[in-house]
Amino acid sequence: MIKIAIFASGSGSNAENIITNFANDKEVCFPYILVNKQDAYVHERAKKLGIPSQTFSKQQLEDGSILKQLQNDGIDFIILAGFLLKIPEAMVEAYPHRIVNIHPALLPKYGGKGMYGHHVHEAVVAAKETESGITIHYVDSHYDHGNTICQAHCPVAPTDTPDDVAANVHKLEYIYFPAAVRQAIANLKK
Ligand code: GAR
Repeated sequence: MIKIAIFASGSGSNAENIITNFANDKEVCFPYILVNKQDAYVHERAKKLGIPSQTFSKQQLEDGSILKQLQNDGIDFIILAGFLLKIPEAMVEAYPHRIVNIHPALLPKYGGKGMYGHHVHEAVVAAKETESGITIHYVDSHYDHGNTICQAHCPVAPTDTPDDVAANVHKLEYIYFPAAVRQAIANLKK
């Protein structure tokens, strides 16, 4: 059984989509969702899914207590589903090729510190891009940087607002993120 911890900071629609997608999969389980914000909507989704959600602080992430918890609980794999803090070096080293992130743009464009959620879509519209998309990648110790697992594209029309782009990007996320997680887990077994 592969134990997967999901990290989230916001609404949690990707967390919910992944957990639902794996609902009939007997090889994986999701012991909890770790959330760095007490008021994030993902807590409501976790309740609905019957999965514990735990709030933790930036300090607990940085001082190693979260890593210790993951290791004590035998967590094998980590999914960052809309998680906005940087993963500390020690965690990256403890989980090589075992942490995946989704980013709502075509990296290396529109990545890095401060580039998350709606900030990304606003920047894409401001730059008059004709396409955007998603990048699912392994996590290393730099923001939005590790090896890419997959990218998917969507067109951006001249009349699209950042909310329109966000909606199209979310559609891609819901299709591609579960499949990319399956691929990364299959790679673990090789
Ligand atoms: C998603 O669009 C995800 O790609 C993005 O945050 C959103 C979370 O939505 N992640 C980042 O910006 C990370 N840099 P959700 O909470 O509904 O899954």
